[in-house]
Amino acid sequence: TATASLNAQPEGANYDESKVPEYILPALLVGNDGSAVSGRQQWERRRKEIYDLFEREVYGAVPAWRGKITATEISHRQDALGGLALRREIRLRMQNGDKSRDVFLLLYLPRSRKAAPVFLGYNFSGNHTVTAEKDVHISPSWVANNKELGITDNRATEASRGSRASAWPLQDILSRGYGVATLYYGDVDPDFDDGFKNGVHALFDQPRDSASWGSIATWAWGLSRVMDYLEKDPAVNAKEVFVIGHSRLGKTALWAGASDRRFAMVISNESGCGGAAISRRKFGETVSRINTSFPHWFCDNFKKYNDKEETLPVDQHELIALIAPRPVYVASASEDLWSDPRGEFLGAKNAEPAYRLFGLRGLKTDEMPAPEHPVGDFIGYHLRTGKHDITRYDWTQYLNFADRHFPGSAAR
Ligand code: GCU
Repeated sequence: TATASLNAQPEGANYDESKVPEYILPALLVGNDGSAVSGRQQWERRRKEIYDLFEREVYGAVPAWRGKITATEISHRQDALGGLALRREIRLRMQNGDKSRDVFLLLYLPRSRKAAPVFLGYNFSGNHTVTAEKDVHISPSWVANNKELGITDNRATEASRGSRASAWPLQDILSRGYGVATLYYGDVDPDFDDGFKNGVHALFDQPRDSASWGSIATWAWGLSRVMDYLEKDPAVNAKEVFVIGHSRLGKTALWAGASDRRFAMVISNESGCGGAAISRRKFGETVSRINTSFPHWFCDNFKKYNDKEETLPVDQHELIALIAPRPVYVASASEDLWSDPRGEFLGAKNAEPAYRLFGLRGLKTDEMPAPEHPVGDFIGYHLRTGKHDITRYDWTQYLNFADRHFPGSAAR
């Protein structure tokens, strides 16, 4: 389960830097036809080539959506978080024909502003886990069993209320003038391999093939549907919606940011394999490990690269490059070797040429920084001391990064 994996350092993986194979990364600025990419227009073409490869070989393609989505506010408070925030819960009912699925959005907005910049990200265990506030609805969806959280029959209860509050420092975020929009990722697609029958998959009727979407692409699609809603909500500044995610949800945030340019900034917290980390390093989690443990996360084509990372037509630096010229932040934790901190740094580093095409600077360093030394201009990076998690320290850096890139948003 998500929480059980938090501190895991699985065995049988390579954690020895000297055993990283030599590799050559796919060239970011060389087109499929071998031509060099220099200007922004050429980049736009190259970007499409790279995007198409990720879509076909890694995350999978989203089928056409023929349904509709209806938003209904189901709760509203003027005095949340001790008076700091407005809090709303919104049900997004996704419907196609006679099939429907409800997704619940929890929205905290600073009372101090009219149209707030917002961090949008999934939570792992239900909206009621991000806050101790007693009146946030408990997720009715399937959740992974978890003894610590008192979940034994795949249903969340009061026992998990507030259990992930440390991952969502709402006081900090709201008092700095930012809002938070969060939803449970299992509302969109429960995180287990069921042959793509449940979650929103039930609302699509296209047959699957080897390039059809896996769950990461499905979760990313869900974030875009939330964005559709946020664009219509006058309390949100839709030009300043920052997509954020930790771990598998960090992979999701990167793919969402690559797929949907309405996200003004992208934050990947310890996204590791299939996220920011270079696959060719085979350090920590590898393509074959991830495809074996989580056969539903990627498209079936990705399995062709099990133990053959060097044959991938892309590597993850190119995923980060797809976000250019928007600011992107990649973060690692020192004890989280499974996610390959150095590989994440190198993913960020090797995305720089795309930013350079826009005259923008990336990390502003060639060396991986020491812990607690955030670096970077349009590509932010830090290594935090400690384990696989998203903490107040991490959020502080993201808030600083947002203040820097969106100075109009910084709390006045
Ligand atoms: C597992 C998985 C990782 C993932 C992590 C998480 O450890 O192997 O790829 O990032 O779970 O989501 O916490």
